[in-house]
Amino acid sequence: MADRVKAGLIGCGAISPKHLNGFRNNDIELVAVCDLIEERMAKAIDDYGDPSTRAVVDYRDLLAMDEIEMVSIATPPALHGPMSIDAMRAGKHVMCEKPCVTSVAEAEQVKRVAGETGQLIVFLGARFRYGMPQMAKSYIDDGDLGEIYRVNVKYYRRRGRPGVDILEGIHWFVDRARAGAGVMMDMGVYFMDTVIWLTGAPPITAVSASEFRGFDHDLPEDVTFDVEEHSNILARTDTDLTYTFDLAWIAHHEPVQAVEVLGTRGGIVMQQGDPPFTFYTDKGGPWHWMNTTTEWRHREDAQTCMVRDFVRAMGGDDPGVGTNPLEALRITELSEMAIRSGNLAREVSADELNRS
Ligand SMILES: NC(=O)c1ccc[n+]([C@@H]2O[C@H](COP(=O)([O-])OP(=O)(O)OC[C@H]3O[C@@H](n4cnc5c(N)ncnc54)[C@H](O)[C@@H]3O)[C@@H](O)[C@H]2O)c1
Repeated sequence: MADRVKAGLIGCGAISPKHLNGFRNNDIELVAVCDLIEERMAKAIDDYGDPSTRAVVDYRDLLAMDEIEMVSIATPPALHGPMSIDAMRAGKHVMCEKPCVTSVAEAEQVKRVAGETGQLIVFLGARFRYGMPQMAKSYIDDGDLGEIYRVNVKYYRRRGRPGVDILEGIHWFVDRARAGAGVMMDMGVYFMDTVIWLTGAPPITAVSASEFRGFDHDLPEDVTFDVEEHSNILARTDTDLTYTFDLAWIAHHEPVQAVEVLGTRGGIVMQQGDPPFTFYTDKGGPWHWMNTTTEWRHREDAQTCMVRDFVRAMGGDDPGVGTNPLEALRITELSEMAIRSGNLAREVSADELNRS
């Protein structure tokens, strides 16, 4: 029998059961967990560990454990860059939560360290690639869309600000220093990941964006709330392709989730709604289209798929799913330009980014 892969988890908060469940479903041994809060580690070990699973408060102690081959990082966003880099330098493969990192300089460093150490690193914004986007990718790879020139994403929640309306008490979500941004870093990065992956991660040359925050809330006064609730983004690439993202944590509007991909030979619309996936084409006659039904949907949870694919990649058989360092850099360039553009109220070009 092959040895079990040995893993560690850093961050035992709200999302950690998903990580631990992904380990369990892939028969991965949980060697150690890390958190600043003892009770959270105890619960993680109770629910998912075994008697030998260790608990450490300093993540560097976990990284020093030789037997650990891979680590999952599930801490607030501002820690993703430093922890990922330290983990790769300690010889670990890394699965890190979304958003990737919170600055372009860090994203470049992650990419460089991944190259230098040869360690695998993926970010979990790629969770949304499973299911319909995988089907879209197969149409795109077969050339059925021709030249893709527009991608439009719309994501609205009626009332869903984490730390305020949902996940109450997890206040870092609304603190820019720890979260990076609001709805864009929370949900926008999932869609940025999907569309950048679908379109081959072209360089993004300029971004124009606006931000809004202004809805009522009842957070205590000592809680910092300085991130956007609504973000609107137009991104140019080095070809004719442009991306737009309209993202809302809260809106007087029905909830919406739609990704529209337009090419010269075909178009794809993926949405939460009916039909969930539509491929428009004039193949075989002018302006025919095909609606798929809900039949083709993946039935495993995305985290289990991510861990399964990650372990395959560790063994040298990379199925190519997971935000890789180049895609992470593109996502971070896009989000950093969007934040700057929102602040400056003008288009920001890639030349203006602070590089490492
Ligand atoms: N909550 C969700 O539904 C959800 C879904 C998908 C992705 N995510 C992502 O997962 C990450 C974590 O989110 P969460 O909701 O679990 O937050 P959380 O605040 O519930 O958990 C974060 C944990 O990290 C720990 N931590 C903070 N600093 C640490 C340090 N220096 N060393 C060790 N542990 C430290 C905290 O004590 C906490 O237990 C974020 O990047 C978030 O965007 C969350």
